[in-house]
Amino acid sequence: MGVKLGRCNLETGRISLGTVKFGRNTDVKYPTKFELPTDKVIVDLLSEAQALGVNLLDTAPAYGNSEQRIGQLLPGLRQDWILCTKTGEQYAGGESSYDFSSQAVTDSVAQSLKHLKTDYLDIVLIHSNGDDLDILHQTDAFATLERLKEKGDIRYIGMSTKSVAGSIAALEVSDVLMLTLNLEDQSNINVLKAAEKKDTGILLKKVFASGHQTAEESLAFALGQRGVHSAVVGTIDSGHLKENVYFADSI
Ligand SMILES: NC(=O)c1ccc[n+]([C@@H]2O[C@H](COP(=O)([O-])OP(=O)(O)OC[C@H]3O[C@@H](n4cnc5c(N)ncnc54)[C@H](OP(=O)(O)O)[C@@H]3O)[C@@H](O)[C@H]2O)c1
Repeated sequence: MGVKLGRCNLETGRISLGTVKFGRNTDVKYPTKFELPTDKVIVDLLSEAQALGVNLLDTAPAYGNSEQRIGQLLPGLRQDWILCTKTGEQYAGGESSYDFSSQAVTDSVAQSLKHLKTDYLDIVLIHSNGDDLDILHQTDAFATLERLKEKGDIRYIGMSTKSVAGSIAALEVSDVLMLTLNLEDQSNINVLKAAEKKDTGILLKKVFASGHQTAEESLAFALGQRGVHSAVVGTIDSGHLKENVYFADSI
């Protein structure tokens, strides 16, 4: 079942697909180690996603070669998908580095367009390093995203935040916010009310606390909150994807 992503002219499924595991298996917080999926596993997973009505893919330059693999392997038509990527963090040689300057954001968006083999990105979020307020108030990151939005490279902008104060401040300048919300960490719950008033698109990350909680109760909690549009669940297992959509549909 599709849902309008706040005031964005985008219709997404209640489950979206997180793609960290498409491209990165080092320095991640999942409970068990895993091998990166083969191209066939990704193509089959994306085809299954499409059949299930999961149309938003969440990726980032910091997710290893996730963007490149999506660009190479995406089935169907470009307009069938909502591509959400990020800017501000790069991951190379086993280490993350952050740069929220105008030049870095401009270069990173240009690189994402190239990697994803597209001439527009549906959503670009600032990939916070934890200093949400500094990024918002002391850097040109958002002004740069606004400029790229006006230019047509990006349709909607926002932030993947790490603090409640950051989420509240980011609401002022965001079409879409990506928030952590799960049974263990409910700190963003009050942000949802403010977001609903502004009709901001709300995507949730870490809904299973990165795989440490059961799918059914986690999704019932997360998607049961007013103001939440879609839960971005990371998986490379099409059985899990199917199960997540089933649980989401039964809420
Ligand atoms: N800073 C940021 O912007 C940020 C940070 C974290 C995450 N994110 C985004 O949010 C997405 C989700 O976050 P996450 O991957 O950290 O955590 P998550 O979605 O809470 O958990 C993902 C883990 O849950 C497992 N899983 C998924 N469905 C399952 C099911 N039905 N039954 C049992 N296990 C299941 C997955 O393993 P299998 O592969 O085996 O299914 C995976 O290891 C990421 O992929 C990313 O797109 C963004």
